[in-house]
Amino acid sequence: AAPSVIEVDENARVDEDGFVCVHDSITLPPRRGTRLHLKVNGRHVSVIRGRGGKLYCVDSVCYHAGGPLTAGNIEDVAGRECVVCPWHSYKLDLSTGEGLYTDLNYKIASKGKRQRTHDVQQRGDGRIYVRLNLTEPDSLPSDEYAYGKQFAPAATP
Ligand code: FES
Repeated sequence: AAPSVIEVDENARVDEDGFVCVHDSITLPPRRGTRLHLKVNGRHVSVIRGRGGKLYCVDSVCYHAGGPLTAGNIEDVAGRECVVCPWHSYKLDLSTGEGLYTDLNYKIASKGKRQRTHDVQQRGDGRIYVRLNLTEPDSLPSDEYAYGKQFAPAATP
């Protein structure tokens, strides 16, 4: 069954810093790989935990061809935490949104930022807050799919 997507009612909960509480009653266990599939202002974004419970927020749909990045495994690639797209195994750095690849010298290299990343916080009450970053930079490949109506992640690890 497809995991549920949490629709965020931004009007009710945006604070003065522009963060929106993802859900009053939802916390995310501090295990690496736990995640929330969100729709914030109509945009599909995912909150994903990395090593030590660190939080990341990235566009849920893969910039490459619209795959369910949100359901990808979390892996270390040259010491960088990445989510690996289930469709064609592209590796996206969770903190920067860069696409990583292996170059001709078998070194990990960056294609540059491809997937949009957003701000995320866990506050003292354990609740998670997200602030969309839609302007830095103005445009990214993942923008093309971020508001897709047909989005449905295939699986949650
Ligand atoms: Fe994600 Fe191709 S759609 S790697």
